[in-house]
Amino acid sequence: MSTSAPQPAPEGRDPHALRPTPGTRVEFRHITKIFTNNKHAETRALDDVSLTVEPGEVIGIIGYSGAGKSTLVRMINGLDTPTSGELLLDGTDIVPLPEARLRSLRSHIGMIFQQFNLFQSRTAAGNIEYPLQLAKMPKPERKRRVKEMLDFVGLGDKGRSYPEQLSGGQKQRVGIARALATNPSLLLADEATSALDPETTREVLELLRKVNKELGITIVVITHEMEVVRSIADKVAVMENGKFVEYGSVYEVFSNPQTTVAQRFVATALRNTPDNVEAEDLLAHEGRLFTIDLTENSGFFPASARATENGATIDIVHGGVTTLQHQSFGKVTVRLNGNPQAMEDFYRSLSRTTTIKEIAR
Ligand SMILES: Nc1ncnc2c1ncn2[C@@H]1O[C@H](COP(=O)(O)OP(=O)(O)O)[C@@H](O)[C@H]1O
Ligand SMILES: [Mg+2]
Repeated sequence: MSTSAPQPAPEGRDPHALRPTPGTRVEFRHITKIFTNNKHAETRALDDVSLTVEPGEVIGIIGYSGAGKSTLVRMINGLDTPTSGELLLDGTDIVPLPEARLRSLRSHIGMIFQQFNLFQSRTAAGNIEYPLQLAKMPKPERKRRVKEMLDFVGLGDKGRSYPEQLSGGQKQRVGIARALATNPSLLLADEATSALDPETTREVLELLRKVNKELGITIVVITHEMEVVRSIADKVAVMENGKFVEYGSVYEVFSNPQTTVAQRFVATALRNTPDNVEAEDLLAHEGRLFTIDLTENSGFFPASARATENGATIDIVHGGVTTLQHQSFGKVTVRLNGNPQAMEDFYRSLSRTTTIKEIAR
């Protein structure tokens, strides 16, 4: 999605200005990482992981604490090496590369962190300038670039502020500006919004979406929050015990999660089925309760009309419908009362066209 072709810089333009990139292609091929502690006990942090991230894609990698997400990220920027397997960036296996090559490769990779990792002794502008100094960019260009970056992240007036004078969201904006200053084609975000409140999280994710749309950068978002995946990612990979247990488009995984772990994550972001407390409350009343998947052609409306004609009443008691990647889906929970045969017919007919589950007493 949103892969912008690289534009040749027009004559006379600043060759270092922020510009679209084709985005890096990332391929994990049978990556395993085993840590051994001093008692020779082994932890298989990554267990034969294979996955391809296409140029310009935003992928969300989600899993509980200890699943192996940070280890995976450290492989991508060459901060750690796999025990076995290949890791290809734009077709080149980086695993055997010497440190000097890795260092130059890292200048094409931006990284943002949960704790922002800003230099407290440098201003916002100073933090953004730091990687440009490392890249030996001449001073006048550096100044122009820092200003451009501050404007891009919406902090045009905060260049002289020190991190301690900035809010969490502003600090992460500085982190993003610093990560993008060298025009990377890949951005790694490890729990980058986990220290932020929900509103600030939304703002930062919006900024990352803009980064992807306008610059075409491939973004790998590591998170334990499904809401983050839902609002930014094209694809999602669910990690558990060092393996990808589920992978697909955000629509596929949200509308039809296969594994228990994916179902749990999806439930935290959608909340479209009654939880145990709500179910208990609903069951205190007369009638049969059904939860129905609403997708295209689910048959819910015709089945409801027939049930009503045949002497049942239907009340909607819970539900949620959402749109992801231009497709709508959701669930609705209804309570039926009245003619037992009409209720049974309702259940039978929807069993043929969609997923319907009775909430049993
Ligand atoms: N440097 C290390 N030495 C030993 N074990 C490690 C090291 N780094 C991570 N691990 C272990 O690898 C597993 C995955 O860790 P990590 O990648 O940090 O998970 P996540 O980021 O998903 O929380 C955990 O069991 C963790 O304890
Ligand atoms: Mg981690």
